[in-house]
Amino acid sequence: MTEATTGSPSSEAIPFPQDRRCPYHPAAGYQPLREQRPLSRVAFYDGRQVWAVTGHAEARALLTDPRLSSDRSNPAFPIPVARLEGLRRTKAPLLGVDDPEHNTQRRMLIPSFSVKRIAAMRPEIQRIVDGLLDRMLAQGPPAELVSAFALPVPSMVICSLLGVPYADHEFFEEESRRILRGRTGQEAEEARESLEEYFTALIARKQKESGDGLLDELIADRLRTGHLTHEEMVRMAMILLVAGHETTANMISLGTFALLEHPERLAQLRAQDTLMLPAVEELLRFLSIVDFLLRVATEDIETAAGTIRAGDGVVFPTSLINRDDTAYPAPDDLDWSRSARHHVAFGFGIHQCLGQNLARAEMEIALRSLFSRIPDLRLAAPATEIPFKPGDTLQGMIELPVTW
Ligand code: HEM
Repeated sequence: MTEATTGSPSSEAIPFPQDRRCPYHPAAGYQPLREQRPLSRVAFYDGRQVWAVTGHAEARALLTDPRLSSDRSNPAFPIPVARLEGLRRTKAPLLGVDDPEHNTQRRMLIPSFSVKRIAAMRPEIQRIVDGLLDRMLAQGPPAELVSAFALPVPSMVICSLLGVPYADHEFFEEESRRILRGRTGQEAEEARESLEEYFTALIARKQKESGDGLLDELIADRLRTGHLTHEEMVRMAMILLVAGHETTANMISLGTFALLEHPERLAQLRAQDTLMLPAVEELLRFLSIVDFLLRVATEDIETAAGTIRAGDGVVFPTSLINRDDTAYPAPDDLDWSRSARHHVAFGFGIHQCLGQNLARAEMEIALRSLFSRIPDLRLAAPATEIPFKPGDTLQGMIELPVTW
């Protein structure tokens, strides 16, 4: 594995990743990276140095560059946290493969996540949101919003879309947590294996008795026809389930927290419902919950700021890219009047989030309904005492105590 020297900024590599001090602002220790934009060096836990792309234009150009690969089985692929080293051993469909294989897999799924299909799901999403709010209101204040609302909304929605029984939610939510935030690599590995066993059994059941979810469609149209192997089908189901609920749950919890901490912005939203769509986009930019994207260079890439050599690791810290002030003036302000479009909170290029239309619809419906049904919603604990997730995982709240 080579590491670039040409053109690398002279300052010392910054440790990466780092925890945020405030759940919605980038880690304070990343300040030098903001100053060295668009390209810097960062150092992982094991001393390995890689590139960090922090400029908005540069990130969007590099994320569409086929010389940057997502193949985690490449020994040079950058893994910034020891406990995630196991990622190298399992070939993840979509997220972990390059074109043309990636394109074949993605094309199988695109129709299920189109604007039209998601628009058709809106009544179902609203029904789920209303049911959870009815229950929260019936039980009365206080409530723990992550378990009562932010997590079950996307969990129920993705179960319905995939055809996974929601009755199993405690199991798969816990295994997803262990994959993303387990203490050790072994714990993450065990959780991956247990989800694999779960989907192997579920797919076997569905092969005997078909339902009407996306997994049933894939079994009929792709698995039976030999376009997908059994192993690929199991891994694809896992990715869709984990990516489909954890991310959106974190956006709903952290989005609620950020709105409660910015009462003037919340008041604007309440006064003018048409602000909801730009607000969802701005919250995605401002919160940038997927803290970093990872790639490895397969060929030398010349950039205005330096040469990325074949074999170099490249990280894209989305929280910094989305706060590049040449793309977003006053980037640390939460502001519904700006155009937050073109943020990289869903990534960019061939791997740009497949579920983004669904995630937007869920956020919009969940936040609008929450604040209109419970107008005096407020935190039930001092903001500084509310636990949020560490910086090497998806940002979000672990618990969000609220009252009204
Ligand atoms: C607000 C919520 C969400 C956020 C912030 C988010 C973020 C992301 C990001 C940043 C990527 C790109 C990763 C990379 O380039 O390496 C991604 C990819 C992906 N997301 Fe999401 N996501 C969200 C919701 C969802 C939902 C609801 C689904 C539904 C199944 C989903 C499924 C996927 C899949 C399958 C990919 C891989 C796409 C590919 O490689 O072609 N995501 N997401």
